[in-house]
Amino acid sequence: MRAQPASTTPTRDEPDLGHHGDAEVGDGLVDLAVNVRRAPMPDWLAEPIIAALGDLAAYPDNRVARAAVAGRHGRPPEEVLLTAGAAEGFVLLARALTGVRRPVVVHPQFTEPEAALRAAGHDVERVLLDPAEDFRLDPARVPDDADLVMIGNPTNPTSVLHPAADLAALARPGRVLVVDEAFADTTAAPGVPGEPESLAARRDLPGLVVVRSLTKTWGLAGLRIGYLLGDAALLARLAAAQPLWAVSTPALAAATACASPAAVAAERAIAAGLTADRDHLAARLSALPGVRVAGRPASAFVLVHLPGAAGVRQRLRERGWAVRRGDTFPGLGPDWLRVAVRDRATIDAFTEVLAEILEA
Ligand SMILES: Cc1ncc(COP(=O)(O)O)c(C=O)c1O
Repeated sequence: MRAQPASTTPTRDEPDLGHHGDAEVGDGLVDLAVNVRRAPMPDWLAEPIIAALGDLAAYPDNRVARAAVAGRHGRPPEEVLLTAGAAEGFVLLARALTGVRRPVVVHPQFTEPEAALRAAGHDVERVLLDPAEDFRLDPARVPDDADLVMIGNPTNPTSVLHPAADLAALARPGRVLVVDEAFADTTAAPGVPGEPESLAARRDLPGLVVVRSLTKTWGLAGLRIGYLLGDAALLARLAAAQPLWAVSTPALAAATACASPAAVAAERAIAAGLTADRDHLAARLSALPGVRVAGRPASAFVLVHLPGAAGVRQRLRERGWAVRRGDTFPGLGPDWLRVAVRDRATIDAFTEVLAEILEA
């Protein structure tokens, strides 16, 4: 880790970057720790995945899926790299961008981008966003000479949705700007037909790579499907680091299906419904003593500040509820929890148990 400039903070008390919400579930607990939507798979998605099982003797051919995803985002196919989930995208970036001298990761955020960079031998610098400023991005805090910048939008775990203009202001020649939009499909804004603040269709920003995942909204975490969007030459460098046939035939079938206009319309409807459930969760949580919901949550989860959260999380587990610990995210600590948005009945049952724990 390099010496700390003014805009970054040290990595003392190093959090466990390899910890993920899936380690907190199981044992019959109600899962509010993992941000994958749980709903029956629609037929238009299940049918092509199942049909692909009949083609497993052939090696995967990604051309149809690549063209479909490109069409969805208004880009040529060369500006799409299909990956085994967004997670593979981070590894490809870390391994292929060998010439990077000053990589910066904006935290708190999903820990895999930094973990992948470090595993590939990069000397990673952190910019920590301030809870007192609701984790808002000030682009000026990113060092001018950072030649790789990684940021999430909306961000896991803060649920903050940064304005597209602030992210665009980070793009410049000589820098790769990676915007993790794994949860962009969960965002919605009144009067906005598409995903507010997404850069997925922006072809004018130098060095922009947008990371997308299909595993969250469509409940495909076990299938592993995502993609990168960006400049064709840059993606070709990343593709050279990818194993042959990294994305399986069923995963490609899912990518094609999820790129259709009907799928995108369904995604928008899900995001709108999520907004109502999220507002309900945030209101219930905010009504509890000592609980503060961070910022204006915009995604499928809510970040909560609660003195003694680590102990509360333990008591929740004893009562059958799993929430995501906050202390493994750089920039947070033991007083933070992340709670996934679920249906109203689940939210009400959860917040009642939480109220009892806090009152005890
Ligand atoms: C912000 C963020 N980006 C990317 C990923 C990885 O997604 P995938 O399942 O597509 O690899 C996750 C998974 O939790 C995530 O939270």
